[in-house]
Amino acid sequence: MAELVLTKNFGVPDFHKIEGYIRCGGYEGLKKTLEEFTPDQVIEEVKKSNLRGLGGAGFSTGMKWSFVPKDSPKPKYLVINADEGEPGTFKDRYLLEKAPHMLIEGAVIAAYAVGIHTAYVYIRGEYVKPAKILQNAIEEAYAHGFLGKNILGKGFDLDLIIHRGAGAYICGEETGLLESLEGKKGWPRLKPPFPAIVGLFKCPTVVNNVETLSQLPHIMKNGAAWFANICQGAPKCGGTRIFSVSGHVNRPGIYELPLTVTLREIIYDHAGGIPGGKKLKAVIPGGSSAPVLTADEIDVKMDFDSLMAAKTMGGSGGVIVMDEDTCMVKALYVLAKFYAHESCGQCTPCREGTGWIAKILHRLVHGEGRPGDPDTLKSVADNIAGNTICPFGDGAAWPVQSFVKKFRSEFEYHAKERKCDILKT
Ligand SMILES: Cc1cc2nc3c(=O)[nH]c(=O)nc-3n(C[C@H](O)[C@H](O)[C@H](O)COP(=O)(O)O)c2cc1C
Ligand code: SF4
Repeated sequence: MAELVLTKNFGVPDFHKIEGYIRCGGYEGLKKTLEEFTPDQVIEEVKKSNLRGLGGAGFSTGMKWSFVPKDSPKPKYLVINADEGEPGTFKDRYLLEKAPHMLIEGAVIAAYAVGIHTAYVYIRGEYVKPAKILQNAIEEAYAHGFLGKNILGKGFDLDLIIHRGAGAYICGEETGLLESLEGKKGWPRLKPPFPAIVGLFKCPTVVNNVETLSQLPHIMKNGAAWFANICQGAPKCGGTRIFSVSGHVNRPGIYELPLTVTLREIIYDHAGGIPGGKKLKAVIPGGSSAPVLTADEIDVKMDFDSLMAAKTMGGSGGVIVMDEDTCMVKALYVLAKFYAHESCGQCTPCREGTGWIAKILHRLVHGEGRPGDPDTLKSVADNIAGNTICPFGDGAAWPVQSFVKKFRSEFEYHAKERKCDILKT
């Protein structure tokens, strides 16, 4: 049985309350941090743990923090990304509902390491219940001296404020999020400069995902070596992550596993395999933006580097499983409509390209395909990838490129026969 870090106490009924959290050893990591570590030592410890961002990009957390200038006269900010908009991803919701104090504790540790005194949680608008639970937890943390002035009597101050989003996927992209937090339209910014240098209100800012920050109390309590060791076999990764598993599996849900687990193990050992004993056809391993894998590519390990070597990505850890009866043209059409709707419209290739991809897939799915459609889809996607302000464009193009390449015959059939060979419609 794999070691559980984040979800170990999810079954404790009052774990979301401060009494339950403290009873299970909560806030000990923070206590140890403030008593035994200087801020620079915390950054070094987190670097050594090999913790990588679990919001999508998989960038080293300690490294990201070290980019924040130490001598800036401006205030610095921590922004917690709780927007969780990537289709197929629902693990942050569980963390917010079941373990809000773990996130708060992690946020105080991160803020202490970087010298931050104000933090915001940007939480997706649809997460009404998680926002309420988190607000209660924040109030409890203030009342018990874990937030506010002179935390635990150690002279460190931090305020934590919740900001609710309004349902735009692009506000999960860190610079779109910062614009939205400043009260503007959530249009992503050109990078560089990166938020570590010019972020919220033009000040140095750390943006971290809920799950990333929730790992910190455990790293500080048990040590970087312990965390890195959980992931033996993936030298540049550490710890566990929570995979959200959906689609054609017997037991959809969240599974916390070391990053060295294989995709096959997630689908068959943990999520119970495919219903009705059907064959697996395809899997998206890291949220809807990740290139799709075929059934014979699932022996890949789920760490960031192994998935990259397999020409896909770990992304947000959303595993979407498709069985043999899935029409890949229709499945891609579902994704394409999402990207066409959510594009912020700032860059031409993304704004126009996502619209055209959705239109072409609409006609393929509705028996009106044209012989050149598979090539046109590829060409439009090729012209989006790498040519946009933010990575949304890549995330919209990669599914198209990979679906058309790996399941080309299905797209050809729809284009030439004007019907579906899988659904027989
Ligand atoms: C279109 C788009 C949507 C994103 N949505 C989210 C999101 O909902 N939550 C999240 O944590 N990161 C999201 N990201 C990634 C963030 O931009 C950023 O990399 C992340 O919050 C950094 O935190 P981490 O280093 O802890 O992963 C998104 C990125 C893109 C391009
Ligand atoms: S890539 Fe798309 S979502 Fe990102 S800035 Fe350009 S138009 Fe907006």
